[in-house]
Amino acid sequence: MKNENKTDYGIDGSPIKYVELIAAEIIIFGAGGYLITFNSLTLNILASVLFLFGLLLGFPIMSFIIYVLGGKLRYRDRLLSMVNWKGSETVLDVGTGHGLLMIGAAKKLDTGKAVGIDIWRQEDMMNNTYNNAMRNAELEGVTKKIEIKNVDAQKMEFPDGYFDVVLSNLCLHNIPLKEGRDMACREIARVLKPNGVIIISDILHDKEYAKIFAGEGLSVEVFNPGLFDGTPLWYKIVKAVKK
Ligand SMILES: C[S@@+](CC[C@H](N)C(=O)[O-])C[C@H]1O[C@@H](n2cnc3c(N)ncnc32)[C@H](O)[C@@H]1O
Repeated sequence: MKNENKTDYGIDGSPIKYVELIAAEIIIFGAGGYLITFNSLTLNILASVLFLFGLLLGFPIMSFIIYVLGGKLRYRDRLLSMVNWKGSETVLDVGTGHGLLMIGAAKKLDTGKAVGIDIWRQEDMMNNTYNNAMRNAELEGVTKKIEIKNVDAQKMEFPDGYFDVVLSNLCLHNIPLKEGRDMACREIARVLKPNGVIIISDILHDKEYAKIFAGEGLSVEVFNPGLFDGTPLWYKIVKAVKK
């Protein structure tokens, strides 16, 4: 049952994928367990290969479960620590979902404001709604410092040079076509002020994003999160600064 007083930053991805992965693990270990009972070297080697494969598949599943169960709060701190906060910034969180980065940023602000945009795709996050993001903002006491809008990252309504900081976590890879992801990166660069900073974290396409930002004249660095940042190791962080 949901605890009414506890924030819920959601489970990323679709339930179907989780069921598929767990089913794959059951089949792999079941088949391995069956084959190991035979008195045959070939079948026993095959069973060992299946066990090894099951463990290799299990490692990313476990690290993702750890991320969803609480690592994402540690990872949020890691991403936000890459910005030199003054408290007066105007911040954009692209694909805010349940408000993870928007709310984390709002807690760093005094006079500033954090805007979260999303199109609430259910296949990208379970129970993905405006209301769930707003509920978290209320629980974290930041409603006066945030605004949540239904805006597509590929075509934003904000004027050029509007934001001091643009953040995004696990959003852009969900845009299926490269042209769409390129458009979103160009939009992110467009709405950023001179001297503003972009922090994009994602599981895929980091080189693509870095290339677009560099093409727009920004200085770009790509980071690997550390072992203890609360995230699976295949995440990448793209930091870009507008000159
Ligand atoms: C995996 S969730 C991550 C949510 C949040 N950033 C976090 O870290 O918890 C990805 C989010 O990106 C949103 N999204 C996907 N495509 C988008 C687009 N074109 N424009 C805005 N948001 C988008 C989804 O609706 C979803 O809320």
